[in-house]
Amino acid sequence: MNRRRWIAATAGGLIYSGLRLKSNPLNSLLEKPGASSFGPDFTWGTATAAFQVEGATTADGKIPSIWDTFTARKKSIKDGSNATEACDFYRRYPKDLELARQIGGGAFRFSLAWTRIINADGSINQKGADHYSRLTDNCLSLGIEPWVTLYHWDLPQHLQDVGGWKNRSIVGHFTRYAEVCGTLLGDRVKNWMVLNEPLSFTSLGYLLGMHAPGKKGLASFLPAVHHAALCQADGARALRQTVQHANIGTCFSCSPVDPFRETEKDRAAAIRVDALVNRLFIEPALGMGYPVETLPVLTRMEKYFKKDDAKRLAFDFDFIGLQNYFRLVCRHNALVPHIAASEVPATERSVPVNEMGFEINPEGMGRMIHKFDAYPGVRNVIVTENGVCVPDTVENGRVKDVARIAYLETYLAAILKAKKNGAKVNGYFAWSLLDNFEWAEGYRPRFGLVHVNYQTQERIIKDSGYWFRDFLKR
Ligand code: FCB
Repeated sequence: MNRRRWIAATAGGLIYSGLRLKSNPLNSLLEKPGASSFGPDFTWGTATAAFQVEGATTADGKIPSIWDTFTARKKSIKDGSNATEACDFYRRYPKDLELARQIGGGAFRFSLAWTRIINADGSINQKGADHYSRLTDNCLSLGIEPWVTLYHWDLPQHLQDVGGWKNRSIVGHFTRYAEVCGTLLGDRVKNWMVLNEPLSFTSLGYLLGMHAPGKKGLASFLPAVHHAALCQADGARALRQTVQHANIGTCFSCSPVDPFRETEKDRAAAIRVDALVNRLFIEPALGMGYPVETLPVLTRMEKYFKKDDAKRLAFDFDFIGLQNYFRLVCRHNALVPHIAASEVPATERSVPVNEMGFEINPEGMGRMIHKFDAYPGVRNVIVTENGVCVPDTVENGRVKDVARIAYLETYLAAILKAKKNGAKVNGYFAWSLLDNFEWAEGYRPRFGLVHVNYQTQERIIKDSGYWFRDFLKR
């Protein structure tokens, strides 16, 4: 099966990969540890995101988000699907939380839909707010610690209508949203993540047009980046003010980037791509500014700067959420503007890949943990997402997803190795509790530890779910 998928964005040029599923010759890297090897304070959980699981897109006064609009557009989603029902988690959450408790450790990550909580006129939608209050209470009554993401890509459409992330007014709207959420749930929710993968939603949504809101070009991308980076810090400050004893983080996508050949040009290309995919958001958050020396095109962002912005981009995060799915290999390519690099797809490199063509590379997870951990301002690293899509089949009520088990074993071994080597890594959330709506890819890629039949909404715990449950007991 061929699927094209974004791997990394360049400023003005694109890097894609069109890869083919291969057999998965994974071998365990190290010994087969259990969760106890990670120590008693390590956080274990599964993760979800509102738009990908909730469905009920018009229930209880929810207003449209950019993803409701985008999925309604012809040809925006590969399988022509939308998320009006998704996993129906909005209604089925009590049972799904039972599953999370059964297989997924002591923590559960979910995101809040801004469009359920704040009406277009700025007033609070009490029904939506009550929903998340109940969801939180339900977690707590099951002994599950809620880990809440403020923003996992579902921007209110009315804000997009005035420019969305491109318009600086987003900073005020977002900060207020953060205050509202902190006030609403802060007595019970202590673990917060401000943004989910700002590079993904700014590049896919505002540079490449592949995700909502489908905008393209540097003139959209650069202001979106700057405003998202500001929201990340201002949103975190709002949480600090409204939530006592909060543990505040934000989540970054990341990938180790290697040169295709050991030539000076390919090495330099890999350094530029690394600045874009791994440094663009974490460095301003740590008070280091944008990586303009490596990527001079970023100086064009200065025109969106206001007085004191440089300082305002920084926040002393309690943890950094690390999300790693694949490794990148790049070569010099003078034809690609600004970054002069292109990706060498995994299919051309005879490496194992997942169903979406991401290279499976557990060592890369270890490298990224060490890379983030090495920044002096990083106090704690939590792997807030990691997982794999493989073509699961249900046979006699069972999903024997051996490839996913092998994936989890090797990635967890790599995390343990990094921890034993001294990295401050203290948590792991498997993506995902449930199969769900995988954005522009639709429902085909399945990342869940629990299989979802989208016709009947039946759930089946996959073998990997049982494996994870047993791993957590060891
Ligand atoms: C991450 C997203 C998450 C999910 C996984 C597979 O980039 O944060 O919502 O789509 O990829």
